[in-house]
Amino acid sequence: MAVRGNVRLNAEQSLRTRRVTILGATGSIGASTLDMIRRGGDRFQVEAVSAHNNVAALAKIARDTKARYAAIGDAGAYKDLKEALAGTGTEAGGGPEALVEAALHPAEVVVAAISGAIGLKPTLAAVSRGATIALANKECLVCAGALFMRAAAAAKANVLPVDSEHNAVLQALTAGRREDVRRVILTASGGPFRTWTAEAMRGATPAQALQHPNWSMGAKISIDSATLMNKGLELIEAHHLFSLEPDKLDVLVHPQSVVHGMVEFRDGSVVAQLGVPDMRIPIGMCLLWPERMDWPAGRLDLAQIANLTFSLPDTDRFPALRLAREALAEGGSATTVLNAANEVAVAAFAGGKLSFPGIAALVGHTLDAARGRGMMKEPQNIEEALGVDHIARSLAHDLLPQIAAKAF
Ligand SMILES: NC(=O)c1ccc[n+]([C@@H]2O[C@H](COP(=O)([O-])OP(=O)(O)OC[C@H]3O[C@@H](n4cnc5c(N)ncnc54)[C@H](OP(=O)(O)O)[C@@H]3O)[C@@H](O)[C@H]2O)c1
Repeated sequence: MAVRGNVRLNAEQSLRTRRVTILGATGSIGASTLDMIRRGGDRFQVEAVSAHNNVAALAKIARDTKARYAAIGDAGAYKDLKEALAGTGTEAGGGPEALVEAALHPAEVVVAAISGAIGLKPTLAAVSRGATIALANKECLVCAGALFMRAAAAAKANVLPVDSEHNAVLQALTAGRREDVRRVILTASGGPFRTWTAEAMRGATPAQALQHPNWSMGAKISIDSATLMNKGLELIEAHHLFSLEPDKLDVLVHPQSVVHGMVEFRDGSVVAQLGVPDMRIPIGMCLLWPERMDWPAGRLDLAQIANLTFSLPDTDRFPALRLAREALAEGGSATTVLNAANEVAVAAFAGGKLSFPGIAALVGHTLDAARGRGMMKEPQNIEEALGVDHIARSLAHDLLPQIAAKAF
């Protein structure tokens, strides 16, 4: 088995045709993945696809790709999916166990693109059989990073990051030895409120938060980008993916989103990966690693862009990033609590029940409440991690009315 850029190359990765399963096929990452798979022609064959409750979109994807298996997470939607797929040759499954079944199908590559901690179990199922994981679902690492990476090492499953920043870092790491890395820098666009005052952000609406300046993404990650929690989750993700101590991880705000990540080595060399802000680049890289796919769209034109700017993030205006850093430093279950509280807070904001600054406030108060209950010790297994996730969600739900009532 060869090693490239700290990633093992399994024998099956040299196969001419790769079977690919897409967990979260109906989402934004799912759509970009399907586009690259279409362009890859006979290099790819779709094995299984999944969604939460979007039956029509899932059935169309299954028909178009001739997938062997389609799983709908919402058990109540199973009957409709089965009917929609009647006579197509695609087997239908429903409920959380069907997501695990999809992950267990014999695909060489599993794209983990379900949104939220709910993606943890199916992704771990794919890990357990040694599949290559194209990991978009960063919540797997934020919620149970140490356990997840241990399971991947035990099963010899490669974990390739789809997140553009981590994908960039993975590529930059190939330039040197791990022991020579001084620090890793993740870039952040700064989101739609980068130049807004704290006062203006009090009135920010979900529609405004969804208007990401550079990337087209699903609703949850777009709101996380607006609070900068996404960058905090990415610091935690990088810590686990690359086994780097928190003090070796930095963030720079880079509004052009051209430089995605950098690695600084001990000799002062800084190696960066650049590209147009389009998720199909890191997705294509993961699908065919270590080969490269042809890029189908506009190429990076630095002369046209002319200026690349960088600045430090402002954690006074964007306290979510500070909370994530603190949780990472605290360790144990702190990042599990952070993620669970953030999922509750983002849903409340999207539903008009919480102000924009209320998101970080609810996360901070939930973390304090969890500390008060002695909940922060390291989970020993996935059930414990999911137990912490569950309790943290109820704490956040309980705190929501009082946080929402305060004028932030
Ligand atoms: N979008 C990006 O550019 C980007 C970049 C980096 C990382 N990521 C990460 O990739 C993941 C997916 O992001 P996205 O933007 O593609 O999200 P998205 O557009 O909201 O899509 C989410 C996908 O997950 C499915 N899903 C949601 N809840 C589920 C549940 N309870 N059970 C089963 N399936 C469920 C959805 O199915 P339905 O359609 O049926 O609801 C959909 O297929 C996230 O973890 C995100 O942080 C995304």
